[in-house]
Amino acid sequence: MKISLNPHAKDAATRDALVAEGGFGKYYTDHMVVCEWSEKEGWGEPELKPYGPISLDPATAVFHYGQEIFEGMKAYRQPDGSISLFRPEANAKRFAKSAARLALPEMPEALFLETVDALLQQDGGWVPNKVGESLYIRPFMFATEVGLGVRPSNKALYMLIATPAGAYFDPSKAVSVWISTEYVRAAQGGTGEAKCGGNYAASLVAQKAAAKEGCDQVVWIDAIERKWVEEMGGMNLYFVKGSGSSATVVTPKLTGTLLPGITRDSILSVAKDLGYKTDEVMISIDDWREGVASGEISEIFACGTAAVVSPVGQAKSVMGTWVTGDGQPGVITMQIRNALLAIQHGTVVDTHNWMSAVK
Ligand code: PLP
Ligand code: COI
Repeated sequence: MKISLNPHAKDAATRDALVAEGGFGKYYTDHMVVCEWSEKEGWGEPELKPYGPISLDPATAVFHYGQEIFEGMKAYRQPDGSISLFRPEANAKRFAKSAARLALPEMPEALFLETVDALLQQDGGWVPNKVGESLYIRPFMFATEVGLGVRPSNKALYMLIATPAGAYFDPSKAVSVWISTEYVRAAQGGTGEAKCGGNYAASLVAQKAAAKEGCDQVVWIDAIERKWVEEMGGMNLYFVKGSGSSATVVTPKLTGTLLPGITRDSILSVAKDLGYKTDEVMISIDDWREGVASGEISEIFACGTAAVVSPVGQAKSVMGTWVTGDGQPGVITMQIRNALLAIQHGTVVDTHNWMSAVK
């Protein structure tokens, strides 16, 4: 790893004041990591350098054909002041899978993890101390071959940046969702399973429609039958059926069109640890509406790295509007949220071996 330190790195007081502001993606740490790949030479040596703008030729492939992927992961302050990452190998694996789908080079897991460690060793002071807050780490990679021919790029640039993250949503308020029947996020054989920028670009018009309907987020349904609930704009979904200790916590099955969320996967285990039954099932819009009406579905929540666990209240669509429970965050939702946060912040024993200490 080449190291070029930032001569203008923020002093501790300035940095702590920025971290204390919370929010998501407002400020970035003092450094970033870059690593070049070319078909000829493979991966070069990564470099940690001052955070700052990059310069690219206007004919660089990514600007024209969108060959880009990213990841999202978090580092948490531990009770002893050290820093740990939550399941970073899972992000490394998904990054490689996304790369394969976008015809980008697969970065070796060890190299990916080395870059994350290097950034945290340098910029660890940016990891917040409060529970529910963390340092959000954004690895990404894009095509850098210059030229307008439509072909897999023979050059790519990997970059890693980080931003202090408070709450993406206020967990004490339920998120309202717009079930989009007009637009489609992903179909079999498409890029739904990959974390590529194009998926998000294509989703923004639906997000705009959701906002126009007074909703916070979009819910996507399947492309073929137009009835199976898949996921949200940047989160997976969970439904709680029944209540108390006999509740079952279910999430839409991974059919190849949903992003396989690491939080989603973790919650399947956390919910079991808490004594709930769990299931991965096909859930239709009718199941949602009828389940809410009959009371069988008692709680709904969204989950993801940025959002952690956020209650979902009102659902709106062209078929009408319905509200889960009393529209307030559910008991099981908050229990799962707190159990996950306790693991991430190191206040309970990490029985799943999910946390990875930064050396
Ligand atoms: N679904 C989409 C479309 C996302 O963007 C995200 C966020 O990363 C998720 C689900 C949740 O995935 P994870 O829990 O790995 O962050
Ligand atoms: C994440 O949770 O990491 C996401 O990517 C969601 C959103 C910020 C795109």
